[in-house]
This record gives sequence, C-alpha cells and structure tokens, in this order.
Amino acid sequence: MKFFLDTADIAEIRDLAATGLVDGVTTNPSLAAKTGRPMTEIIAEICALVEGPISAEVLATDTAGMLREAEVLRAIAPNVAIKVPLTFDGLKACRVLADEGVKVNVTLCFSPVQALLAAKAGAAFVSPFVGRLDDIGHDGMGLIADIVEIFHNYPQYGTEVLVASARHVHHVLEAARLAADVITMPPAILRQMIKHPLTDSGIAAFLKDAEKAGLSIPPRA
Ligand code: E4P
Repeated sequence: MKFFLDTADIAEIRDLAATGLVDGVTTNPSLAAKTGRPMTEIIAEICALVEGPISAEVLATDTAGMLREAEVLRAIAPNVAIKVPLTFDGLKACRVLADEGVKVNVTLCFSPVQALLAAKAGAAFVSPFVGRLDDIGHDGMGLIADIVEIFHNYPQYGTEVLVASARHVHHVLEAARLAADVITMPPAILRQMIKHPLTDSGIAAFLKDAEKAGLSIPPRA
C-alpha cells in the first residue's frame, strides 16, 4: 500500500520523507493557499523532496483552461501528476492528458459510478473523499469497498484507488483491509501511526534496566 502525504507544508514533507515511508504527495488549492506562497514554487520544492507522484490541482473549471494550466504544472517536474475535478470538463481533460501519457488524479469523487468514469477516462488515480462523506453521515469506507470491488472486475483500466480526505488512523487501517492502492493523509496521521504508548513505556523500561546494569554499546574499534 502506498502512503501519500496530503499537505503543502514543506517542512513536514521533508521531515517525514526522511523515513522513506512517503510514496507521493497530494496538494489542493486550499492546502496551497495556507502556505501563502506561489503554487508553482511549492510544487517545485515538493517534487525535489519526494520522487513519487506529486498531485498539483488545476484551478480552471473548463477543459481548455484545465489543459492550459496542466501544461504549466507539467513543466515543473517529471513527477507532477495533474489533478482535475470529477466533472464533465475534468473527465474530458483527463482523457486528453492520459492520451499524452500524463498521470492524472481525478479528485472529488463521491460515488462508485463517478470512479468508474474516471477509470474509463484514463485516470492514473481516482480520489474518493472518505472523510467528507463521513462528515455528512454517509459511509466513506463503504465507497472505497465498492470502488475496489468494481476495479477488481476491470483490471484493464489500471486506475489506482487513492483514498483521500482521511481523518484518522482508522481510515488507514480500513483502507489497507480493503486493499486500496494508496491513501493520502495529513502528516499528523502518519505520525500517529508511528506512536504507541506501550512502545514508549517499553523503551523507558529497557533504558532504566540498562542504566542500572551499566550496559553500553561501545563505538566500533
Ligand atoms: C485529496 O487529494 C485532497 O487533498 C484531500 O484529501 C482533501 O481532504 P479534506 O477533506 O481533509 O480537505
């Protein structure tokens, strides 16, 4: 399962990428806006930090505009994936870009049939938003189960299910159980996954015992 970070925070990306656990990054206009910096500049920095796909989202809502912006975003680095919304115009742009060999992430997916359309349009990734569905009392992970099942029936599309709008560690666990290809998560979730109170208390107990016995590991001669 691939782990993407869902952020435009350069310091967080740099720190977490050093673990080797980060397979890609997703950004969106809201995340980019939070940085207060030009979008192209942030994307360029992220692309230099992480080798995997870096999703950069178009702002235009019409196909021609999306394609114009995609050209600018693609020129930033070879690992840029173009993010387009799951709309009529977004699907048209996806087809054109996919035919040119560009990785497209079709975002803001909220139903299994929308996901099927993204796959047919040649998307490399489709991003169903689980947290936003949960927020309105729907079943976010149920949507992932449906999409994974449908995509399993049509392996020829090759579209990866990218679980988005993750809100907590349990979303990661459920996504893994359902065999989703990728999950993108805020840095705080990846940090929470690492932590366990029994790990911390276990280390403290081991160190106390080692200190009492005067144990040490001397440097290599
Ligand atoms: C996905 O690529 C989006 O950036 C993201 O997951 C949106 O999540 P949110 O619902 O927390 O804004």
